[in-house]
Amino acid sequence: MSTETDTAASGSATGPAPTGPVQEVGEIFDITRFGDYTQLTMVAPGVARAFAPGQFVAVAVGGPRTSMLLRRSFALYGVKPGGEFAGTIQFVVDPHGPGTDWLVGQRIGSRLNLVGPLGVPFPIPRDAVPAVLVGGGYGTAPLLPLAERLLALGSEIEMIVGASRAGRLFGELQAKRLIGKVTVTTDDGSAGQYGQVTDPLPSAIERLGAEIVYACGPMGMLAAVGEVARAHAIPAQVAVEEAMACGIGVCMTCVLPVRGADGVSRFVRSCVEGPVFEAGRVRWADVGTLPADLYGADGMGR
Ligand SMILES: Cc1cc2nc3c(=O)[nH]c(=O)nc-3n(C[C@H](O)[C@H](O)[C@H](O)COP(=O)(O)OP(=O)(O)OC[C@H]3O[C@@H](n4cnc5c(N)ncnc54)[C@H](O)[C@@H]3O)c2cc1C
Ligand code: FES
Repeated sequence: MSTETDTAASGSATGPAPTGPVQEVGEIFDITRFGDYTQLTMVAPGVARAFAPGQFVAVAVGGPRTSMLLRRSFALYGVKPGGEFAGTIQFVVDPHGPGTDWLVGQRIGSRLNLVGPLGVPFPIPRDAVPAVLVGGGYGTAPLLPLAERLLALGSEIEMIVGASRAGRLFGELQAKRLIGKVTVTTDDGSAGQYGQVTDPLPSAIERLGAEIVYACGPMGMLAAVGEVARAHAIPAQVAVEEAMACGIGVCMTCVLPVRGADGVSRFVRSCVEGPVFEAGRVRWADVGTLPADLYGADGMGR
């Protein structure tokens, strides 16, 4: 991984462009509230330059004297690589704990220490394929740049944007501007159709003749989306938001039980081998457990 120093060096007109994640100090230049969420737009040219849809940024929170040692992860969207010094990124924050509360209390001009872009992005097909994108809550965020990429390929796409209630929807207006064909659902019927994102999914897949589903949202939603895709015999690529501590593959906090191509299940780090996975490979019912048949389970205390 490149360092803050590397980024500063690469900021010069003659420096080599980094090809992976960097650490850099970015400055907030816009703060916008959307329902329960706060969108931060930052100048962060190093992160912006290497970004691909599905990747995330790990943000240091709490300021220089904080006891919050661990970075907090946020999916990236609205990335504009721009010129050498003008690259910008966006991420949206759902305040619900000390780190996210601190972030939404920041002001325009505040500087944040960032590491990114991290993780494996959504796989993009070589040719145009019809696709349905499903976002739950702020999980819609990483699907927006993905939609842009798919549309640029000439893919026909539809999007389903859902949340528990109206205030927890995110990105439905951006999605409508981008795609047009957007179905909004809320669990309590306070906006869009009453029900869950998976309710309109089968008809969207069938109407479009979709060959792939992409999704991001809570784990239960991703498991359900994977099940609908499986029933239609098409793949689902899903971005998980498993709790992360280091974000760079060192601590094993973020492991998920994933079935490999060889049929063997292993713990896989969602920060470096994800966050995007083929839904059919994740053992959703076993997340948070140590399955007896997992490779290495004996050595992990069984
Ligand atoms: C890839 C990814 C994308 C995400 N995108 C978004 C987004 O776009 N918007 C958004 O609002 N949220 C997003 N999240 C969730 C967000 O990172 C967490 O909600 C946030 O870290 C909460 O921080 P907190 O201090 O407010 O809450 P808390 O829940 O109090 O703190 C959570 C923090 O505790 C640490 N932690 C968690 N588990 C352990 C453990 N087992 N051992 C040690 N430390 C642990 C981690 O540093 C974690 O960030 C994303 C998460 C991931 C993994
Ligand atoms: S968060 Fe530490 S290994 Fe993934």
